[in-house]
Amino acid sequence: MCGIVGFIGQKQAAPILLDGLSRLEYRGYDSAGIAVITPQGTIDLRKSEGRLKVLSDLVHGGADLNGCIGIGHTRWATHGVPNSINSHPHMSEGGKFAVIHNGIVENYVEIKEFLIRQGVHFQSETDTEVIAQLLEFYYNECHDFFETVGRVLRRITGAYALGILCADCPDRMIAVRKDTPLLLGFGEGENYIASDVTALIPYTRDVVYMDDGEMAVLTREGIQVYDPLQQPIEKEHHHIDWDVSAAEKGGYPHFMLKEIFEQPEALRRAISPRLKNGRVVFEDMKLTAEQIRAFTRIFIVACGSSYHVGMLGKYTLERMLRRNVEVQLASEFRYSDPIIDDRTLVIFISQSGETLDTMEALKEAKKRGAYVLSIVNVVGSSIARGSDDVLYTWAGPEIAVATTKAYSTQLAVIDMLALAFGEALGTVDEAEYAAVVSELQKLPEKMETVLAHHEDIQKFAAQHFNHNSIFFIGRNLDYALGLEGSLKLKEISYIHSEAYASGELKHGTISLIEEGTLVIALGTYSKLFEKAMSNVVEVKARGADVLALTTESRREEMLKTVPTVLAIPDTLDMLLPSLGVVPLQLFAYYVALQRGCDIDKPRNLAKSVTVE
Ligand code: G6P
Repeated sequence: MCGIVGFIGQKQAAPILLDGLSRLEYRGYDSAGIAVITPQGTIDLRKSEGRLKVLSDLVHGGADLNGCIGIGHTRWATHGVPNSINSHPHMSEGGKFAVIHNGIVENYVEIKEFLIRQGVHFQSETDTEVIAQLLEFYYNECHDFFETVGRVLRRITGAYALGILCADCPDRMIAVRKDTPLLLGFGEGENYIASDVTALIPYTRDVVYMDDGEMAVLTREGIQVYDPLQQPIEKEHHHIDWDVSAAEKGGYPHFMLKEIFEQPEALRRAISPRLKNGRVVFEDMKLTAEQIRAFTRIFIVACGSSYHVGMLGKYTLERMLRRNVEVQLASEFRYSDPIIDDRTLVIFISQSGETLDTMEALKEAKKRGAYVLSIVNVVGSSIARGSDDVLYTWAGPEIAVATTKAYSTQLAVIDMLALAFGEALGTVDEAEYAAVVSELQKLPEKMETVLAHHEDIQKFAAQHFNHNSIFFIGRNLDYALGLEGSLKLKEISYIHSEAYASGELKHGTISLIEEGTLVIALGTYSKLFEKAMSNVVEVKARGADVLALTTESRREEMLKTVPTVLAIPDTLDMLLPSLGVVPLQLFAYYVALQRGCDIDKPRNLAKSVTVE
């Protein structure tokens, strides 16, 4: 999604803006632009379609722009095609205002018509330009920057994070947030705005997350935040402890590969501090055993890969708690009139903590009285702040659009949650509890052994990257795992792929299997291994080329039917997806590499989807 960066200080703004934007490239975008206020009091605006490098070359790395206050934006088109006119910043006709915007102005047509009637000329097809034009319109009436922004906010509806420059006020910048993330960065004699903390890591670790309806005035000396009634307020500061290298490739060709290999370490961070003397201890959780016992309904709600974690979480929670757990896509949940009351627990899972559908579902759940617990990676994100309880996954910054380490850590957290809830409800026996804890501790090491075999997967990918369509089949846990494997492959290699519950093949999909179709058969789940094998035989009989994934202890058996078998170390069934996902991530990665795809920034996709 779009990226926002703003800077005010003593240094030249343009190189900082370009650098900040480059750290947001992973979010996905199609055009970029920057604007600075020059010492002459004019706004110098440069924009271009395509990659940030095009813009950076155009302005010689920022050297062409002179000014110590500026805003920058990477745009992911919504209203209007991706081109330099539609890209941000947008300026008002008289050149007084420049604005960058993430979100959507819902009533922009009506405002645009109003302004056109007042004689304003528009250049772009965007909703954002109305903000710039409206700012100048009101400013011409009141000549007060702060008051002007307030008037504009009262006039527009929708979702917005804004960074605003006024040529008459070169000593300040105004930032606004409603339903779209924006944070403030505090430096020495310089201050920042950004849509994502990754943009600011090299510059400051001291940040404030803005809340809905808030406005901030940034000067070189400080930042004052105002509440929705425009009264000054004090905000809690957060310290970001991610280091710069965590957001850089560190010798890997792609962030995705780096993040795949970081998974054992990320798992250690997510698991170790929460296992104390053989017990799961969520020091960060407020829920009491009594509250857990009082819940009559449990939902898990998420999007994309986080939803796949939810599916696995459902299997584990239901088995351990003997309670019904419903898992839903956030985009469906929010419109499904869900049956929720104050004895309902809704667990939201989100890497970014900013996915709009998930956030809106969260608001809906809260409105209906649910207790909201979220599993989130980005500290201080909207979903984290909107929840009654947050369990952080501590995976570190995830840059590649296709999630890997966030998925693995979410899974570990939900497995630990199942133990903690099981204990509170008295539904998990001591022997199983101890076994899960012990295997959780071994998980990072076992994952390292899976990663050590990455070349086998690379070889397999080299033989199979030319398929037009690839199927993943599996049952129960293996089915949910297949969904994730299939999504990874689609996202980054653009190969059509489907995941099917193996038992459903005979109800239609098997008609798609023909000579040479590649089927990735997941047979890790011990309870259903025999059944998984019979499905493998079925697809083989119809000419499918099969790659099977199973555990070490079943490798020989699988080899009797399938010549190509990948094996993961044995562990408890519920933990197998944590290991099984790694070969699937690597397969997607190496296939995409063979096909020459833009792995970290796949077409049409964004890391954090802040539109509906
Ligand atoms: C986007 C990403 C996916 C992610 C999904 C949900 O589509 O490309 O990788 O799974 O959003 O994101 P969240 O941040 O809420 O987990």
